Amino acid sequence: MKLWQGRFDAPEAADADAFNESLSFDKQLWRADIEASCAHAAMLGQCGIVTDEESAAMIGGLQSIRDDIERGVLRVEGQEDIHSFVEGELVARIGSTGKKLHTARSRNDQVATDMRLYARGAVDEAMQALKKFIGVLLARAKETVKYIMPGFTHLRKAQPINCAQYFNAYSEMFLRDLDRFCALRRRMNVMPLGSAAMAGTSYPIDREITRRLLHFDAVSQNAPDAVSDRDFVAEYLFCASLTMAHLSRLCEDTILYTSDEFGYWEIPDAYSTGSSIMPQKKNPDIPELVRGKTGRVYGHLMAILTVLKGIPLAYNKDLQEDKEAFFDAQKALMSCLSIYTSLLAGITFRVNRMYDAAGEGYATATDVADYLAKRGVPFRDAHAVTGKLVRYCIEHGKTLPTLTLEEFRAASPVFEEDILQTVTTRASAEGRNSVGGSSRQAARAGIASIKKRLRQYD
Ligand code: ARG
Repeated sequence: MKLWQGRFDAPEAADADAFNESLSFDKQLWRADIEASCAHAAMLGQCGIVTDEESAAMIGGLQSIRDDIERGVLRVEGQEDIHSFVEGELVARIGSTGKKLHTARSRNDQVATDMRLYARGAVDEAMQALKKFIGVLLARAKETVKYIMPGFTHLRKAQPINCAQYFNAYSEMFLRDLDRFCALRRRMNVMPLGSAAMAGTSYPIDREITRRLLHFDAVSQNAPDAVSDRDFVAEYLFCASLTMAHLSRLCEDTILYTSDEFGYWEIPDAYSTGSSIMPQKKNPDIPELVRGKTGRVYGHLMAILTVLKGIPLAYNKDLQEDKEAFFDAQKALMSCLSIYTSLLAGITFRVNRMYDAAGEGYATATDVADYLAKRGVPFRDAHAVTGKLVRYCIEHGKTLPTLTLEEFRAASPVFEEDILQTVTTRASAEGRNSVGGSSRQAARAGIASIKKRLRQYD
């Protein structure tokens, strides 16, 4: 029996019912729905809209439903949505008093409240997972601060960098993600309950009571907006999308760096996969899958933005589409963060290979140009002289660190003996001591700064 059957002569057609239903997915809201209903029932009692006994009976019934679902003895099925299910079950348990639960409430403010409660929990979980992930990035940075690796632009060797500087780059990205989720949590923690269908209610409700019980920071100030506002869903999907973008970049690096061609890192066997036909293969399926799931999270963001754009004020059933998008993106985000936390913790480093690779490709050419510029040669001229030296190396099969002083001096008389130390891979990385730079000291300062900022979210 539908909650709304009274007005109709005929029952809903089976296909219409199947098309309309949301229980198959909104059952995920069961805990939030019961929590919000308990708060509402308590408020109804305190405001004298129902008697204290009725309020207590409803709360007791709701709690028994929660306990039974928790213990797996009550299956959530057989109704149009989670709200109908909980109410129907309450009436089955406590009789007609249960029918008073929906006084001064609509499924419109109810579902908006449930989604906020659920999404708030999801934001908290995402923040916890991000903190843990940044913790692993920091640990890896600390371990590798003594190592040098190639830094790239355009996927061509650019300059030698400190390994910790590399990991710190990702910590910065995920710290921004953490901050975005944190800001979202503050913005979304506003309670729609009490807005009823779309216009508020004539019952003498006290929204402060439910706000306090449900730990919201404020109550919404406009009923039509409150029942139809899903900005927080779109924002969650955006925060998740950007986090996935950052993860996906790290995946791309992982796939490249663990290839034979690069050979900088090794993925632990436990997080690698093989091929059914090629026995030698060790495939990076996990980073590939994380990279792939990024597309699906972006898809959900586009879906919700499109759903929201044509909705006339106030609630419309289109909004039911928010749930599968949210749940699926949440699942993808959380599983990706979790698996990559484990995988990243197990990555091993081919230290010598990284160091040698960092020196290949004339990666210290900028240091040669800087050497000249620091001795008075205008940088543009220094760049040209160094460019010629690189060409000389290419033609004669040499590298910058293996050039003799005479060869340097043939290009410019400004070069002195100390150029031979300046062009080494380590000196190159160590030379850049600016804030955020590639020296060990700068990378250590980077670690300290990330740790300090991370603590703000404790
Ligand atoms: N399943 C619905 C949703 O998710 C619940 C609200 C239904 N409200 C209504 N007026 N039909 O949006």
